[in-house]
Amino acid sequence: MYQLAIIGGGPGGYVAAAKAAKAGLSTILFEKRELGGVCLNEGCIPTKTLLYSAKVFDYAKHGDKYGVSVPEGAGVDYAAVLKRKEKVVKKLVGGVRVQMRDAGVEVVKECATILGRDAETGIIRLQAGEAEYEAANLLLCTGSEAAVPPIPGLRESLDAGISLTNREILALPERPERLVVIGGGVIGMEFASFFNSIGTEVTVVEMLPKILGPMDDEISAMLQAQYAKKGVDFHLSCKVTAIEGDTVVYETPEGESCRATGDRILVSIGRRATLSGFGLETLGLEYALNPAGRPVGVKVDAKMRTSLPNVYAAGDITGFSMLAHTASREGEVAVDTILGRDAAMSYDAIPGVVYTNPEVAGAGLTEAEAAKKGIEVTVHKLPMAFSGRFVAENERGEGLCKVIAAKKDGRVLGVHMLGNPCSEIIQSACIAISRRMTVTELAEVVFPHPTVSEILKETLQH
Ligand code: NAI
Repeated sequence: MYQLAIIGGGPGGYVAAAKAAKAGLSTILFEKRELGGVCLNEGCIPTKTLLYSAKVFDYAKHGDKYGVSVPEGAGVDYAAVLKRKEKVVKKLVGGVRVQMRDAGVEVVKECATILGRDAETGIIRLQAGEAEYEAANLLLCTGSEAAVPPIPGLRESLDAGISLTNREILALPERPERLVVIGGGVIGMEFASFFNSIGTEVTVVEMLPKILGPMDDEISAMLQAQYAKKGVDFHLSCKVTAIEGDTVVYETPEGESCRATGDRILVSIGRRATLSGFGLETLGLEYALNPAGRPVGVKVDAKMRTSLPNVYAAGDITGFSMLAHTASREGEVAVDTILGRDAAMSYDAIPGVVYTNPEVAGAGLTEAEAAKKGIEVTVHKLPMAFSGRFVAENERGEGLCKVIAAKKDGRVLGVHMLGNPCSEIIQSACIAISRRMTVTELAEVVFPHPTVSEILKETLQH
């Protein structure tokens, strides 16, 4: 019998498995596809690899701004871009495999099914392939799937390969001439950015009045304006009502029915926790429900415990904060709990990054969230151009840094940024927020000069 069985080898599962095995727990990890999960195989890593190729192309196209010319003109070899993406994914998946082996995790590359849990001993029985397994503890890390809402014609369009989710679009053999993106959230905007850079005509249809839903309003609007200038056609506050072949039919706020046609349609309207297909129902766990009373994830507490004592869950299966780094931390907390250590999950400083060009990054509360919670705040903000390094590296670049602090004691509650490389800077903000630093304490920290990160300190001192 294993001390811990984990279902799902994504950033929740494999991080937890390594930690548990290193701490001495006999650990078995089931993964039906590839180690690394969505993040490594069809999410974070492949998209960032594509986006980096697009960024290099952007630099080459606009090299003249920096006094650099490309005599033959810059071009993109789409097949080579895809090949490099596959190489990067393969290398990193191999890295996780080695990590599991070195930690002493037994990896089973099969779909696991939960057969049951003994009511007295709590022992969990599982099946994978022909073999059966027993475990004293179970950690559920089955992740999520792209949401496919009941829009008339969508299922047929997906079956015909015209509409695609994030999984299929990554393997598209040719660059589409025209792409319609349904949903201007994180996935939608990252793919809009990639395809816009490499010359595809991109249209974004978004139901809300803004792109990037929960991100800072002002920053989302600035990013949208920059992409509109680059040629992306945005239709906000527009609800998709049907898909007719290669055409997206949507309704404008005025009630007018409009159409957008593309060679391909990307469906990026959110993800749903994977709660079926592996015998979860046999456990009878409590679910987290949406306002309509439908299950959106497995209900967990701050120690990642489910409603059964020896069953834990981490990552997208909780239906909450669906991010790779959230999953990894939740996995660590679950293992610490199993080991009897005192650990709890905090969502106060989870960084969110959108890898468009320029990047968007945020952590902690936005002004809108603070207002909703009735917290009085002071907003410090400064254009990125106040950073010398930003000016040196971003010709005619526009960006913004915003720090949200509590009015009563100056504590840093949130930081939101637009401008490269804010994905790398936001971590300082996470430390400040999670360690409950005040703006004065953060401003007293010495930042390296010249770096774009100094913008944080400048914003507080301005
Ligand atoms: P999302 O929740 O970020 O955005 C979905 C968007 O679709 C929303 O703005 C919503 O208003 C819109 N929408 C929903 N139904 C619609 C309809 N019928 N017509 C038009 N618009 C509609 O979800 P997304 O982009 O699919 O991403 C899924 C998850 O993956 C998110 O939780 C995200 O955080 C995560 N992710 C994170 C990344 C990162 O950290 N860089 C990258 C990619 C995904």
